[in-house]
Amino acid sequence: MNYQLIMKPRVFNIDPYNIDIRVLKRSAEIIHNRGLVAFPTETVYGLGANALDPKAVAKIFEAKKRPLDDPLIVHIADINDLFSLAIDVPLEIHKLVHRFWPGPLTIVLKKTNLVPDLVTTGLDTVAVRMPSGTIARKFIEVAKTPIAAPSANLFGRPSPTTAKHVIDDLEGRIDVVLDGGSTEIGIESTVVECVDDRIVVLRPGGTDLEELRGIIGDVEVLSSGEDPAAEHTPGKYPQHYSPRAKVVVVEDTPRQAEEVLEKASRMVSDGKKTGILARQEHADHFKDYNVKMLGPGGDSRICASRLFHMLREFDAENVNMIIAEGIPEKGLGLAVMNRLRKAAGPDLV
Ligand code: TXA
Ligand code: MG
Repeated sequence: MNYQLIMKPRVFNIDPYNIDIRVLKRSAEIIHNRGLVAFPTETVYGLGANALDPKAVAKIFEAKKRPLDDPLIVHIADINDLFSLAIDVPLEIHKLVHRFWPGPLTIVLKKTNLVPDLVTTGLDTVAVRMPSGTIARKFIEVAKTPIAAPSANLFGRPSPTTAKHVIDDLEGRIDVVLDGGSTEIGIESTVVECVDDRIVVLRPGGTDLEELRGIIGDVEVLSSGEDPAAEHTPGKYPQHYSPRAKVVVVEDTPRQAEEVLEKASRMVSDGKKTGILARQEHADHFKDYNVKMLGPGGDSRICASRLFHMLREFDAENVNMIIAEGIPEKGLGLAVMNRLRKAAGPDLV
Protein backbone atom coordinates (compact mmCIF):
# COMPACT_ATOMS: atom_id res chain seq x y z
CA MET A 1 0.00 0.00 0.00
CA ASN A 2 1.06 3.56 -0.63
CA TYR A 3 2.87 5.07 2.39
CA GLN A 4 1.42 8.53 1.63
CA LEU A 5 -2.11 7.19 1.78
CA ILE A 6 -1.60 5.72 5.23
CA MET A 7 0.32 8.54 6.84
CA LYS A 8 -1.28 11.64 5.38
CA PRO A 9 -4.87 12.68 5.02
CA ARG A 10 -5.83 13.26 1.40
CA VAL A 11 -6.41 16.95 0.92
CA PHE A 12 -8.97 18.04 -1.66
CA ASN A 13 -9.26 21.71 -2.56
CA ILE A 14 -12.85 22.82 -2.91
CA ASP A 15 -14.08 26.19 -4.12
CA PRO A 16 -17.19 27.02 -2.09
CA TYR A 17 -18.53 28.98 -5.05
CA ASN A 18 -17.93 26.16 -7.54
CA ILE A 19 -18.21 22.92 -5.61
CA ASP A 20 -16.96 19.78 -7.36
CA ILE A 21 -19.62 17.22 -6.47
CA ARG A 22 -17.34 14.32 -7.42
CA VAL A 23 -15.03 15.21 -4.53
CA LEU A 24 -17.98 15.25 -2.14
CA LYS A 25 -19.18 11.89 -3.46
CA ARG A 26 -15.78 10.30 -2.85
CA SER A 27 -15.69 11.81 0.62
CA ALA A 28 -19.23 10.54 1.28
CA GLU A 29 -18.10 7.03 0.36
CA ILE A 30 -15.34 7.35 2.93
CA ILE A 31 -17.93 8.42 5.51
CA HIS A 32 -20.00 5.31 4.72
CA ASN A 33 -16.86 3.17 5.08
CA ARG A 34 -16.44 4.50 8.64
CA GLY A 35 -13.77 7.04 7.67
CA LEU A 36 -13.12 10.52 9.05
CA VAL A 37 -13.49 13.59 6.83
CA ALA A 38 -12.55 17.10 8.01
CA PHE A 39 -14.60 19.81 6.34
CA PRO A 40 -15.09 23.59 6.65
CA THR A 41 -18.23 25.05 8.15
CA GLU A 42 -19.00 28.76 8.50
CA THR A 43 -17.60 28.63 12.07
CA VAL A 44 -14.55 26.34 12.21
CA TYR A 45 -13.45 23.08 10.53
CA GLY A 46 -15.31 19.99 11.77
CA LEU A 47 -14.09 16.39 11.95
CA GLY A 48 -16.95 14.38 10.48
CA ALA A 49 -18.08 10.77 10.79
CA ASN A 50 -21.38 9.01 10.12
CA ALA A 51 -23.42 10.03 13.18
CA LEU A 52 -25.59 6.89 12.98
CA ASP A 53 -22.65 4.46 13.11
CA PRO A 54 -21.08 4.09 16.59
CA LYS A 55 -17.93 2.45 15.19
CA ALA A 56 -17.32 5.46 12.95
CA VAL A 57 -18.07 7.88 15.80
CA ALA A 58 -15.60 6.06 18.06
CA LYS A 59 -12.83 7.01 15.62
CA ILE A 60 -13.52 10.71 16.19
CA PHE A 61 -12.79 10.38 19.90
CA GLU A 62 -9.65 8.40 19.15
CA ALA A 63 -8.31 10.77 16.50
CA LYS A 64 -8.88 13.88 18.64
CA LYS A 65 -7.84 12.20 21.93
CA ARG A 66 -11.17 13.49 23.18
CA PRO A 67 -12.46 12.29 26.56
CA LEU A 68 -15.42 9.90 26.28
CA ASP A 69 -17.66 12.17 28.35
CA ASP A 70 -17.62 15.12 25.93
CA PRO A 71 -20.61 14.77 23.56
CA LEU A 72 -20.60 15.61 19.84
CA ILE A 73 -22.75 17.89 17.68
CA VAL A 74 -24.78 16.21 14.95
CA HIS A 75 -24.88 18.22 11.71
CA ILE A 76 -27.83 18.08 9.33
CA ALA A 77 -28.61 19.65 5.95
CA ASP A 78 -32.40 19.41 6.05
CA ILE A 79 -34.61 20.65 8.83
CA ASN A 80 -36.76 17.51 8.63
CA ASP A 81 -33.81 15.48 9.89
CA LEU A 82 -34.12 17.31 13.20
CA PHE A 83 -37.29 15.35 13.91
CA SER A 84 -35.65 11.96 13.40
CA LEU A 85 -32.89 12.86 15.88
CA ALA A 86 -34.84 14.77 18.54
CA ILE A 87 -38.27 14.75 20.18
CA ASP A 88 -40.29 17.24 22.25
CA VAL A 89 -39.02 20.32 20.42
CA PRO A 90 -40.30 23.30 22.46
CA LEU A 91 -41.97 26.27 20.80
CA GLU A 92 -39.10 28.61 21.72
CA ILE A 93 -36.66 26.30 19.96
CA HIS A 94 -38.90 26.21 16.88
CA LYS A 95 -38.66 30.01 16.79
CA LEU A 96 -34.86 29.93 17.01
CA VAL A 97 -34.51 27.27 14.34
CA HIS A 98 -36.82 29.17 12.06
CA ARG A 99 -34.78 32.35 12.44
CA PHE A 100 -31.18 31.11 12.72
CA TRP A 101 -30.88 27.89 10.68
CA PRO A 102 -28.88 27.31 8.67
CA GLY A 103 -26.26 29.08 10.78
CA PRO A 104 -23.96 29.06 13.83
CA LEU A 105 -26.54 27.91 16.39
CA THR A 106 -26.53 24.46 18.02
CA ILE A 107 -29.58 23.22 19.85
CA VAL A 108 -29.65 20.63 22.64
CA LEU A 109 -32.82 18.51 22.66
CA LYS A 110 -34.12 15.20 23.97
CA LYS A 111 -32.71 12.51 21.68
CA THR A 112 -34.42 9.68 19.79
CA ASN A 113 -33.18 6.09 19.70
CA LEU A 114 -31.71 6.71 16.26
CA VAL A 115 -28.83 8.63 17.88
CA PRO A 116 -26.11 6.26 19.16
CA ASP A 117 -25.28 6.67 22.86
CA LEU A 118 -21.65 7.27 22.00
CA VAL A 119 -22.54 10.50 20.14
CA THR A 120 -24.14 11.93 23.26
CA THR A 121 -21.75 10.11 25.61
CA GLY A 122 -24.71 8.55 27.35
CA LEU A 123 -26.75 11.74 27.84
CA ASP A 124 -30.43 11.62 26.91
CA THR A 125 -30.00 14.86 24.96
CA VAL A 126 -28.43 15.46 21.56
CA ALA A 127 -26.87 18.65 20.16
CA VAL A 128 -28.00 19.39 16.58
CA ARG A 129 -26.91 22.06 14.15
CA MET A 130 -27.62 22.92 10.52
CA PRO A 131 -24.52 24.76 9.25
CA SER A 132 -24.78 27.53 6.66
CA GLY A 133 -21.33 26.93 5.16
CA THR A 134 -22.04 25.82 1.59
CA ILE A 135 -19.40 23.06 1.52
CA ALA A 136 -20.63 21.64 4.83
CA ARG A 137 -24.25 21.60 3.76
CA LYS A 138 -23.61 20.13 0.35
CA PHE A 139 -21.37 17.47 1.88
CA ILE A 140 -24.04 16.37 4.39
CA GLU A 141 -26.62 16.37 1.59
CA VAL A 142 -24.46 14.18 -0.63
CA ALA A 143 -23.58 11.85 2.27
CA LYS A 144 -27.32 11.37 2.94
CA THR A 145 -26.68 10.83 6.64
CA PRO A 146 -26.31 13.15 9.63
CA ILE A 147 -22.64 13.88 10.34
CA ALA A 148 -21.26 13.95 13.87
CA ALA A 149 -18.51 16.55 13.99
CA PRO A 150 -16.56 18.22 16.77
CA SER A 151 -14.03 20.88 15.86
CA ALA A 152 -11.20 19.23 13.91
CA ASN A 153 -8.39 19.91 16.43
CA LEU A 154 -6.64 17.76 18.99
CA PHE A 155 -8.61 17.93 22.24
CA GLY A 156 -7.91 21.15 24.16
CA ARG A 157 -6.20 22.97 21.27
CA PRO A 158 -7.61 26.07 19.54
CA SER A 159 -10.25 25.18 16.95
CA PRO A 160 -9.01 25.08 13.34
CA THR A 161 -10.02 27.84 10.95
CA THR A 162 -7.93 26.62 8.00
CA ALA A 163 -7.15 23.20 6.50
CA LYS A 164 -3.52 23.70 7.54
CA HIS A 165 -4.56 23.93 11.21
CA VAL A 166 -6.40 20.60 10.80
CA ILE A 167 -3.37 18.94 9.25
CA ASP A 168 -1.03 20.39 11.90
CA ASP A 169 -3.10 18.65 14.61
CA LEU A 170 -4.45 15.53 12.94
CA GLU A 171 -2.01 14.46 10.24
CA GLY A 172 -1.85 10.66 10.14
CA ARG A 173 -5.04 10.32 12.21
CA ILE A 174 -7.80 11.08 9.67
CA ASP A 175 -8.66 10.13 6.07
CA VAL A 176 -9.59 13.31 4.21
CA VAL A 177 -9.46 17.09 4.56
CA LEU A 178 -11.72 19.20 2.36
CA ASP A 179 -9.81 22.46 2.01
CA GLY A 180 -12.27 25.29 1.43
CA GLY A 181 -10.00 28.10 2.66
CA SER A 182 -10.41 30.11 5.88
CA THR A 183 -13.70 29.81 7.72
CA GLU A 184 -15.78 32.95 7.83
CA ILE A 185 -16.81 33.34 11.49
CA GLY A 186 -13.73 31.73 13.03
CA ILE A 187 -15.30 30.83 16.36
CA GLU A 188 -17.62 27.90 17.16
CA SER A 189 -21.42 27.91 17.16
CA THR A 190 -23.53 29.12 20.06
CA VAL A 191 -24.96 26.15 22.00
CA VAL A 192 -28.42 26.59 23.59
CA GLU A 193 -30.81 24.42 25.54
CA CYS A 194 -34.40 25.00 26.66
CA VAL A 195 -34.68 24.39 30.42
CA ASP A 196 -38.11 24.86 32.07
CA ASP A 197 -39.32 26.99 29.13
CA ARG A 198 -36.25 29.23 29.33
CA ILE A 199 -33.49 29.43 26.74
CA VAL A 200 -30.08 28.93 28.32
CA VAL A 201 -26.83 29.57 26.46
CA LEU A 202 -24.40 26.77 27.32
CA ARG A 203 -21.63 28.17 25.11
CA PRO A 204 -21.57 31.66 23.57
CA GLY A 205 -20.54 31.54 19.91
CA GLY A 206 -21.26 32.66 16.37
CA THR A 207 -24.90 33.65 17.01
CA ASP A 208 -24.72 36.52 19.49
CA LEU A 209 -26.88 37.14 22.55
CA GLU A 210 -28.40 40.33 21.16
CA GLU A 211 -29.68 38.38 18.13
CA LEU A 212 -31.11 35.61 20.34
CA ARG A 213 -32.79 38.14 22.62
CA GLY A 214 -34.33 39.79 19.55
CA ILE A 215 -36.30 36.59 18.95
CA ILE A 216 -36.81 35.11 22.42
CA GLY A 217 -36.58 38.06 24.80
CA ASP A 218 -35.19 36.58 27.96
CA VAL A 219 -32.04 34.49 27.47
CA GLU A 220 -29.77 33.30 30.25
CA VAL A 221 -26.04 32.63 29.92
CA LEU A 222 -24.77 29.75 32.00
CA SER A 223 -21.22 30.22 33.16
CA SER A 224 -19.79 26.75 33.68
CA GLY A 225 -19.24 25.77 37.25
CA GLU A 226 -22.09 27.79 38.71
CA ASP A 227 -24.74 25.12 38.26
CA PRO A 228 -24.78 21.31 38.54
CA ALA A 229 -26.13 21.23 34.99
CA ALA A 230 -22.84 22.81 33.96
CA GLU A 231 -21.37 19.32 34.24
CA HIS A 232 -22.49 18.96 30.64
CA THR A 233 -21.76 22.40 29.30
CA PRO A 234 -19.28 22.86 26.50
CA GLY A 235 -15.79 23.71 27.66
CA LYS A 236 -16.46 22.28 31.12
CA TYR A 237 -12.81 21.33 31.17
CA PRO A 238 -11.14 24.29 32.87
CA GLN A 239 -8.44 24.70 30.26
CA HIS A 240 -9.62 24.54 26.69
CA TYR A 241 -9.01 26.16 23.31
CA SER A 242 -5.40 26.52 24.45
CA PRO A 243 -2.27 27.26 22.53
CA ARG A 244 0.89 25.66 23.94
CA ALA A 245 1.95 29.05 25.33
CA LYS A 246 0.48 30.29 28.62
CA VAL A 247 -2.22 32.91 28.09
CA VAL A 248 -2.85 35.91 30.35
CA VAL A 249 -5.92 38.05 29.69
CA VAL A 250 -5.89 41.77 30.48
CA GLU A 251 -9.48 42.90 30.80
CA ASP A 252 -11.00 45.77 28.82
CA THR A 253 -10.40 48.89 30.98
CA PRO A 254 -9.08 52.40 30.27
CA ARG A 255 -5.65 51.38 31.67
CA GLN A 256 -5.51 48.24 29.58
CA ALA A 257 -2.56 49.13 27.34
CA GLU A 258 -0.41 50.29 30.31
CA GLU A 259 -1.21 47.09 32.17
CA VAL A 260 -0.19 45.00 29.17
CA LEU A 261 3.10 46.90 28.95
CA GLU A 262 3.88 46.37 32.65
CA LYS A 263 3.22 42.65 32.35
CA ALA A 264 5.15 42.35 29.10
CA SER A 265 8.23 44.09 30.44
CA ARG A 266 8.18 41.88 33.57
CA MET A 267 7.84 38.70 31.53
CA VAL A 268 10.56 39.63 29.10
CA SER A 269 12.96 40.42 31.95
CA ASP A 270 12.06 37.02 33.44
CA GLY A 271 13.41 35.57 30.21
CA LYS A 272 10.01 34.53 28.82
CA LYS A 273 9.48 34.59 25.07
CA THR A 274 6.46 36.86 25.17
CA GLY A 275 3.81 37.76 22.59
CA ILE A 276 1.09 40.39 22.80
CA LEU A 277 -2.30 39.79 21.19
CA ALA A 278 -3.42 43.38 20.83
CA ARG A 279 -6.32 45.57 19.88
CA GLN A 280 -5.44 47.30 16.67
CA GLU A 281 -5.98 50.77 18.15
CA HIS A 282 -3.23 50.06 20.72
CA ALA A 283 -0.65 48.96 18.15
CA ASP A 284 1.58 52.00 18.74
CA HIS A 285 2.07 51.14 22.42
CA PHE A 286 3.62 47.76 21.72
CA LYS A 287 6.14 48.54 18.99
CA ASP A 288 9.05 47.15 21.02
CA TYR A 289 7.40 43.76 21.48
CA ASN A 290 6.35 40.73 19.42
CA VAL A 291 2.79 41.87 18.76
CA LYS A 292 -0.03 40.42 16.66
CA MET A 293 -3.31 42.16 16.03
CA LEU A 294 -6.53 40.55 17.22
CA GLY A 295 -8.44 43.28 15.39
CA PRO A 296 -10.19 46.55 16.21
CA GLY A 297 -11.62 46.28 19.75
CA GLY A 298 -14.88 47.72 18.45
CA ASP A 299 -15.30 45.10 15.72
CA SER A 300 -15.97 41.78 17.42
CA ARG A 301 -16.58 39.96 14.09
CA ILE A 302 -13.06 40.67 12.92
CA CYS A 303 -11.61 39.72 16.33
CA ALA A 304 -13.56 36.44 16.32
CA SER A 305 -12.38 35.55 12.83
CA ARG A 306 -8.71 36.11 13.77
CA LEU A 307 -8.52 34.80 17.35
CA PHE A 308 -7.65 31.11 16.86
CA HIS A 309 -5.46 31.88 13.87
CA MET A 310 -3.33 34.30 15.91
CA LEU A 311 -3.05 31.92 18.89
CA ARG A 312 -1.73 29.26 16.55
CA GLU A 313 0.71 31.71 14.94
CA PHE A 314 2.24 32.46 18.34
CA ASP A 315 2.58 28.70 18.87
CA ALA A 316 4.39 28.33 15.58
CA GLU A 317 6.94 30.86 16.90
CA ASN A 318 7.34 28.89 20.15
CA VAL A 319 6.27 31.85 22.28
CA ASN A 320 5.96 30.84 26.00
CA MET A 321 3.64 33.58 27.14
CA ILE A 322 0.77 35.37 25.37
CA ILE A 323 -0.67 38.54 26.89
CA ALA A 324 -4.11 39.04 25.32
CA GLU A 325 -6.07 42.28 25.43
CA GLY A 326 -9.74 41.86 26.29
CA ILE A 327 -12.47 43.44 24.14
CA PRO A 328 -16.01 44.55 25.06
CA GLU A 329 -18.40 41.61 25.56
CA LYS A 330 -20.84 42.79 22.91
CA GLY A 331 -21.76 40.95 19.72
CA LEU A 332 -19.22 38.17 19.19
CA GLY A 333 -17.07 39.79 21.90
CA LEU A 334 -18.78 37.58 24.49
CA ALA A 335 -17.61 34.45 22.66
CA VAL A 336 -14.11 35.88 22.06
CA MET A 337 -13.69 36.63 25.79
CA ASN A 338 -15.11 33.23 26.74
CA ARG A 339 -12.47 31.51 24.55
CA LEU A 340 -9.64 33.72 25.78
CA ARG A 341 -10.52 33.05 29.43
CA LYS A 342 -10.80 29.32 28.75
CA ALA A 343 -7.42 29.43 26.99
CA ALA A 344 -5.96 31.15 30.05
CA GLY A 345 -7.30 28.44 32.35
CA PRO A 346 -8.57 28.89 35.90
CA ASP A 347 -5.72 30.84 37.56
CA LEU A 348 -4.24 32.92 34.84
CA VAL A 349 -6.82 35.64 34.15
O1 TXA B 1 -19.27 25.55 15.36
C1 TXA B 1 -19.28 24.45 15.92
O2 TXA B 1 -20.10 24.17 16.81
C2 TXA B 1 -18.23 23.42 15.48
C3 TXA B 1 -18.50 23.06 14.02
C4 TXA B 1 -17.61 21.95 13.53
O3 TXA B 1 -19.85 22.73 13.85
N1 TXA B 1 -18.29 22.26 16.31
C5 TXA B 1 -17.84 22.26 17.59
O4 TXA B 1 -17.92 21.02 18.20
O5 TXA B 1 -17.41 23.25 18.14
P1 TXA B 1 -17.19 20.70 19.58
O6 TXA B 1 -17.40 19.25 19.80
O7 TXA B 1 -15.81 21.16 19.52
O8 TXA B 1 -18.02 21.46 20.63
C6 TXA B 1 -19.35 21.07 20.88
C7 TXA B 1 -19.72 21.29 22.29
C8 TXA B 1 -18.95 20.33 23.19
O9 TXA B 1 -18.12 21.04 24.06
C9 TXA B 1 -20.02 19.59 23.94
O10 TXA B 1 -19.76 19.57 25.33
C10 TXA B 1 -21.31 20.37 23.65
O11 TXA B 1 -21.12 21.01 22.43
N2 TXA B 1 -22.42 19.43 23.59
C11 TXA B 1 -22.62 18.44 22.68
N3 TXA B 1 -23.71 17.72 22.99
C12 TXA B 1 -24.22 18.25 24.10
C13 TXA B 1 -25.34 17.94 24.93
N4 TXA B 1 -26.14 16.91 24.66
N5 TXA B 1 -25.56 18.71 26.02
C14 TXA B 1 -24.74 19.76 26.31
N6 TXA B 1 -23.67 20.09 25.57
C15 TXA B 1 -23.40 19.34 24.49
MG1 MG C 1 -14.03 21.77 20.07
